[in-house]
Amino acid sequence: MNKPLHDNTATMIEMIKVSKGYPPDVVALKDVSVSIDSGEMFFIIGMSGAGKTTLLKLLCSMELPSTGLIEIGGQAIHTLKGFKLARLRQKIGVAYQDFKLLTDRTAAENIAISMEVSYKKPQIIKNRVRNLLEQLDLADKHDTITGELSRGEQQRITLARAIANSPTMILVDEPTGNLDATTTERVMRLLTNCNKAGATIVIATHDQSIYRHTSHRVMELRKGQLHSVARGTSR
Ligand SMILES: Nc1ncnc2c1ncn2[C@@H]1O[C@H](COP(=O)(O)OP(=O)(O)OP(=O)(O)O)[C@@H](O)[C@H]1O
Ligand SMILES: [Mg+2]
Repeated sequence: MNKPLHDNTATMIEMIKVSKGYPPDVVALKDVSVSIDSGEMFFIIGMSGAGKTTLLKLLCSMELPSTGLIEIGGQAIHTLKGFKLARLRQKIGVAYQDFKLLTDRTAAENIAISMEVSYKKPQIIKNRVRNLLEQLDLADKHDTITGELSRGEQQRITLARAIANSPTMILVDEPTGNLDATTTERVMRLLTNCNKAGATIVIATHDQSIYRHTSHRVMELRKGQLHSVARGTSR
């Protein structure tokens, strides 16, 4: 596990009255305020177009909010530039809804990328990649070009790449959209283990099976606005 992003407070993510608009007149998020603790597993649900992906893109600073404040580990992310921003991004693992895999590279190469940029030893990378592929039932795809994999397989490689370097914060967009029930359980077991090891995890999903019986908090967005935040079991 990487060093924590901060030492003196239990809050990992603070969003205060965050809005995000896209030209000409799309309001993707409106006045969303939420605080997520360090070490929390947190679900974001809502209909298609509700703003789930937009929210994750703001948290990894792929996009900037139109108004409002976002702090990660006590740092206002809009103030970070250059080296400081790069350092923050290294501690965040993102599994994108549209995967963003290098489709002409193998599964193993895609997963290794985040570890290579942080100069991990080749043997450590090799072992970690094999271990993740095994946990995700993809051991036989180690040397397969990801462009040749099924969507469900690509989705799992995307997740493996996001968590390979044991990031402090993991953002996951629809991790189980293309998966059967057994593989969904595998994916959730892996994410739960990352969470138990200390990672803060935010999952955007439509898949009721992964949040219906959870004891973690579930936030519902409706048309870009926060509708409710509740414990999964009390829903
Ligand atoms: N780059 C963009 N330019 C213009 N509009 C955008 C852009 N990205 C998202 N939107 C719009 O913002 C709204 C929220 O989109 P977002 O992708 O966050 O929804 P979502 O909840 O992730 O949906 P889904 O469940 O389908 O993935 C939608 O109306 C979408 O069309
Ligand atoms: Mg989305």
